[in-house]
Amino acid sequence: MTNEEKLKVFEYYLNKIETEAIKRFTTFALVRVPEYFWTLPASTSGKNHGLKETVIDHTLACLAIAEGVCEQFNKHWEQERKDELYSSLILHDTYRCGHPGKELRITQEIIDKENLDQSLLGELMTSRDHPEIGSSELSKLMKEFLIESYKNEKGIISSISLTNILDGVRYHYGPFSNTAVFDMKMPYDSVILQVHNIDFHQCHNSMYLTRKHCKHTESRK
Ligand SMILES: [Fe+2]
Repeated sequence: MTNEEKLKVFEYYLNKIETEAIKRFTTFALVRVPEYFWTLPASTSGKNHGLKETVIDHTLACLAIAEGVCEQFNKHWEQERKDELYSSLILHDTYRCGHPGKELRITQEIIDKENLDQSLLGELMTSRDHPEIGSSELSKLMKEFLIESYKNEKGIISSISLTNILDGVRYHYGPFSNTAVFDMKMPYDSVILQVHNIDFHQCHNSMYLTRKHCKHTESRK
């Protein structure tokens, strides 16, 4: 995919971002994230998310929910909070399978242990640590972006936006993270909590819509 094609995928939501520096950072990062992000299934094990859903479908569905959240907080949130929510969600799963060049892959041991389909052997696999890896890789991109912004005398991102975007990625597993300790007393209107809530609910909604792992509809499969 060309950079132009990649940006086209998120054009509608990039255009919703009104804070110029946040839009520039999101664009800067999007064309630098791992290539696998653009074609990855939403569930690499076939167990979570909806059937045949890609990670791009999942991200776009999260963004559609985010529009509703921005409407809900319309008079309460400043535009910057809305822009941080869109930016963090666009980027939250970009490093799903780990560091580029050291991507996690499905082994025979994992297939046996998790009872996965044999055809998945050698395929890319979601890393449980991807929220942590994503936020650390994106913070490296943020540094590059800030240096470039200084050099070109362009506006930089405020420290609160920087924190909300990167921590939104870091804590998007919420209380289910292996590494990041999530503060369950975080205010409901915090951008970081909303990234987690939206991601969690989109994933579960799509499973229910496709009647996967949905006990009361199992007989209707
Ligand atoms: Fe996600």
